[in-house]
Amino acid sequence: MRIAVFASGRGSNLRALMEAAGTGYLKAEIAVVLSDVQSAQALERASQQGLSARFLEPEAFEDAALEILRNPAVDLVCLAGFMRILSGDFIQQCGVPILNVHPSLLPAFPGLRAQRQALKYGARVSGATVHLVDEQVDHGPVIAQAPVPVFEDDDEESLSQRILRQEHRIYPMAVRWFAEGRVSVEGRSVRIAAASA
Ligand code: GRF
Repeated sequence: MRIAVFASGRGSNLRALMEAAGTGYLKAEIAVVLSDVQSAQALERASQQGLSARFLEPEAFEDAALEILRNPAVDLVCLAGFMRILSGDFIQQCGVPILNVHPSLLPAFPGLRAQRQALKYGARVSGATVHLVDEQVDHGPVIAQAPVPVFEDDDEESLSQRILRQEHRIYPMAVRWFAEGRVSVEGRSVRIAAASA
């Protein structure tokens, strides 16, 4: 399976995916890393590992990305801290599943600064979600989730770090399920077939 990763920033989820592919936990190749931010640490991390890493001008991102995703074809797109909202046209034309990782237990706290939203709300539990991308923000069918406790002395940073550890665990796991061909989706319901022996 060939994967494209879209990332705008630090790229710690990209790193988790690269490590999983490196150890063989994830039998997939990260074919290309694309970013809408020229200075993204994610691009640097990818290049350091010898992966193809490209900055695409934000204004022309979708057209350029579609071209790259088709030649040669990728099987899956993983958003990893990608800060642009993809258009419905892109999602349809892309033709392969698009996954995203979000730092809350969706449908709670969609959108920006989910950890801050959880703290402001006074939630006792938040977490991480891997989901398929559809035309609404942070909305598509849920592939994997992990709960994370919120402590009374948490701030945005401490909660983000605790959630991030779960993101780094469940994102490679969810991508692995796709690589193994075990995911089937019907409407919002997702089934993960048992692993073959
Ligand atoms: C993660 O918390 C992810 O859930 C959110 O943005 C953050 C990106 O972190 N969408 P990184 O760039 O993968 O380190």
